[in-house]
Amino acid sequence: MTRMFLWYFIVTLNFATKIRAVIDTVPSDFFFSSNVPEATSKFVNACNIANGSFEYFNHTMVGPQNEELQATVCVVGKSDARGVVFTISGTHGIEGYAGSMAQISLLHMSDMVLWKNIKIVNLHMINPYGAAYTTKENEDNADQLKNVAAYYNLNYDNAILQELIDGIDLPNLNNMTTLQNAFLTFQKLQTKYGAEAVNLALKTGQGKRPQGVAYFGLSKSWSSQIIDGVISKYVGKPEKILLIDWHTAVGNYGYWTYLALDSDTADIFKKWVPAASTEPYDIGLPTGGEVAYTFVKERTGAKRVFRVTWEAGTYNVTPNTNAMFFQRLHCRFYGSATEPFCQQVIANTKEYFYPQGANWKNLTYYDINRVLPLVLSGFANEEVNCGPLAQVSILLIVMGLFYSLTFPQKLID
Ligand SMILES: *[C@@H]1O[C@H](CO)[C@@H](O)[C@H](O)[C@H]1NC(C)=O
Ligand SMILES: *[C@@H]1O[C@H](CO)[C@@H](O)[C@H](O)[C@H]1NC(C)=O
Ligand SMILES: *[C@@H]1O[C@H](CO)[C@@H](O)[C@H](O)[C@H]1NC(C)=O
Ligand SMILES: *[C@@H]1O[C@H](CO)[C@@H](O)[C@H](O)[C@H]1NC(C)=O
Repeated sequence: MTRMFLWYFIVTLNFATKIRAVIDTVPSDFFFSSNVPEATSKFVNACNIANGSFEYFNHTMVGPQNEELQATVCVVGKSDARGVVFTISGTHGIEGYAGSMAQISLLHMSDMVLWKNIKIVNLHMINPYGAAYTTKENEDNADQLKNVAAYYNLNYDNAILQELIDGIDLPNLNNMTTLQNAFLTFQKLQTKYGAEAVNLALKTGQGKRPQGVAYFGLSKSWSSQIIDGVISKYVGKPEKILLIDWHTAVGNYGYWTYLALDSDTADIFKKWVPAASTEPYDIGLPTGGEVAYTFVKERTGAKRVFRVTWEAGTYNVTPNTNAMFFQRLHCRFYGSATEPFCQQVIANTKEYFYPQGANWKNLTYYDINRVLPLVLSGFANEEVNCGPLAQVSILLIVMGLFYSLTFPQKLID
């Protein structure tokens, strides 16, 4: 048994050395991109290096520069693996460039877990429309995270949100007087219902105002259909799944914060990465609604599904941030991308969800490459019925990673 542990330790050292070698050779763009084709090509390249296989899902629309839009899945590992790491980028469109970087980083470290009977399924830029047009929402103006049957079948009336949307003169929101009136409408609602109720309404969403904020959509979106297909064809029927949905804008600038979608996941992440930044998941649910990605467990029959959204932090929310969301909608439905007002709104939206400074790209790259190996090895060693033997081997693997990441030069020389 001692020999087995020693073997774990040595194998981990070996792979951690490889990770270190990858970290030491990052390009200056840190695997970030400026448009969907560039991100797709970097992702497919990383997939090829990892000896993965990929499939394109071409969107019916093109981007603002007439560029092709597509989602892409890359699969690495044995098809019948017991554990699957399933990650999705671009759920919120423009947030997908950070997710693309995280998925490329994950592919670079994939051989660290493949020997543990793990398969990695990365679904890249699931909402390429939003990534190309600098919106969080998809081509139907729906929030892809809320585009599940449990929401849109409710035909849900969100009175507060409807009052807010109806009280804002969206067609004229480029007029400063109209914008001031929108702020007043928002304040009046907060006085009438309380700030907490208004906040909750915004998180809960609405299904009746297709041009409004926090819209669910009417039915299964293009992206939701692809997720369904990828789960059937590539995720399959494993015993355990680690689902990571990559996002931005929650947490400190340049650092990643995970939001566990259930208490089982919260407990396990505390064990795997006790020092990693986290916040409670606080998306409000309408009565009869359900937490994001509940369907993954139902569809796969997996015994355990760990679910997180993982957020690269950007800027604090201010009243201007909220105004920006409405202005973006004005530009989408009533403005033109060439008028200076909308160019500014689009630039502000992009910076908020995808900061362009080299420092942000650098920080987010190094932060995720520091934490992700620990999460991967934690998941790979998580037995569905976790016994003492498994726990000792986790300890050795974590020690191995710690040792090799702390003293990289000794190993490389
Ligand atoms: C990919 O396959 C090639 C050829 O079999 C092999 O030399 C290489 O080490 C593999 N790369 C990875 C990351 O497994
Ligand atoms: C989808 O896009 C890829 C990449 O541009 C292209 O090679 C492929 O032919 C397209 N597939 C279809 C069915 O149009
Ligand atoms: C903005 O709206 C106000 C009120 O409707 C109007 O009086 C004003 O002329 C508008 N300003 C511009 C620049 O259109
Ligand atoms: C990125 O960050 C690393 C360490 O955190 C630093 O050594 C490096 O100089 C930075 N590179 C750029 C281009 O900012």
